[in-house]
Amino acid sequence: MKAGRGRLQPHTAAQRGQGRNARLVAVRALLAWQEGQAEFLDDALARSEASLSDDRDQGLARELALGALRHGMLYDAVMDQFLKRSHQPFALRACLRIGCHQLFALDRVPPHAAVAESVGVLRELGLSGLAGVANAVLRRLADARLEERSGPGPLGRLPPQLQPTDLAERHGLPELLIEHLRPVLDQDPSRTLEALNVLPPLCTRTRPGKAQPQGHSIVQREGPWTWWDEPHEALAAVADGLCVVQDRAQGEVVAVARPRPGEWVLDACAAPGGKASAFIDAGCRVVAADHELAKVAQMAEPPARLVQDSARPALARGAFDLVVVDAPCSNSGVLARRPEARWRYQAEALRRLGAIQRALVKAAVTQVAPDGRLLYATCSLAPQENQGIAHTVPGWKVMGERLSWPTAWQSGGYAALLVRC
Ligand SMILES: C[S@@+](CC[C@H](N)C(=O)[O-])C[C@H]1O[C@@H](n2cnc3c(N)ncnc32)[C@H](O)[C@@H]1O
Repeated sequence: MKAGRGRLQPHTAAQRGQGRNARLVAVRALLAWQEGQAEFLDDALARSEASLSDDRDQGLARELALGALRHGMLYDAVMDQFLKRSHQPFALRACLRIGCHQLFALDRVPPHAAVAESVGVLRELGLSGLAGVANAVLRRLADARLEERSGPGPLGRLPPQLQPTDLAERHGLPELLIEHLRPVLDQDPSRTLEALNVLPPLCTRTRPGKAQPQGHSIVQREGPWTWWDEPHEALAAVADGLCVVQDRAQGEVVAVARPRPGEWVLDACAAPGGKASAFIDAGCRVVAADHELAKVAQMAEPPARLVQDSARPALARGAFDLVVVDAPCSNSGVLARRPEARWRYQAEALRRLGAIQRALVKAAVTQVAPDGRLLYATCSLAPQENQGIAHTVPGWKVMGERLSWPTAWQSGGYAALLVRC
């Protein structure tokens, strides 16, 4: 069992029950992740969602599992007001969480179905003894649910008397992250933090010279960016070579570097290759490096690829026009997509990441041509990992920077362009 997962209790029910419907698949993925059988919830989902033949069922299973993790602290705080004992098996909490998610976050599931189907999952798992408690709690929550939304997300359907006031519980975020974000939170911290849990629809970037992809599930278009309701449609357009899957936040990072056609770019932390593809599309000649051989092998492009520890680069001294350090980070800007990353937001992990980020930047500056640029980027919102690194590189100054807060259409992240002083 992994540490740092709030007040959740382990349970060995993951091996029991078959993936017979979306709710069961979601709960089994949560149990498998909780028991440490998968590092990422996505991996746990991928293992069991194959049993769902229908795209919509797969989508529901994914939404329920990720939602139960994103809003887990909120749902736990709400259910604890109705549970006699707060120390409960995780299987019960997981079923109650997916029930809460259907009741409060998903408007399309009728409340009676949310209750009955979530309780049914416990029976499927061979835990009928817990079904009575789950049924009683969910029925009371269904009665309390607001008919009319008062705002977005699960809080929008929770009556005020059931809402926790604590920001960490309201948004399922670690106290330490909230403390670190305080300087950038405005007068309405709850509204600002809410954005961290909003999952944007899948986004693609149309490649230069290609026709705009078409599909009935397109929900928004803006320049080369297209947002899709149905991932399989987007992936078909990707397979046709029209576009690549890319978060618009990545486009903003690349724009900060102001890439010019023909210039040499070293992408020092390149896998899986999202930004490398954007630099190629901007006409740059890209060398993509990463320290993981398997990840480098999986990158479809560019042709020049390098397996190296970029903190100890293969070239003693480089002469690249632009060196990109898209550093490993806490992922605090992509928590909606990577909900489990919130539990890794801990002082020791941040200290370790800070050391890696500084080492990568220190080595990267040796690879930049005399009049070249360094692009430092993360998908974090925390100043410690962003300005705290970019503004403290000896002999270098920040020429431009951008902090993108997550929105309904894109994730969050940071980029800074540096030149020699
Ligand atoms: C945030 S991801 C990069 C995302 C990528 N730039 C993109 O746009 O698709 C960070 C990457 O850094 C790599 N990495 C971590 N430490 C590294 C090191 N010391 N040397 C090279 N790559 C490293 C990781 O394997 C990971 O693929």
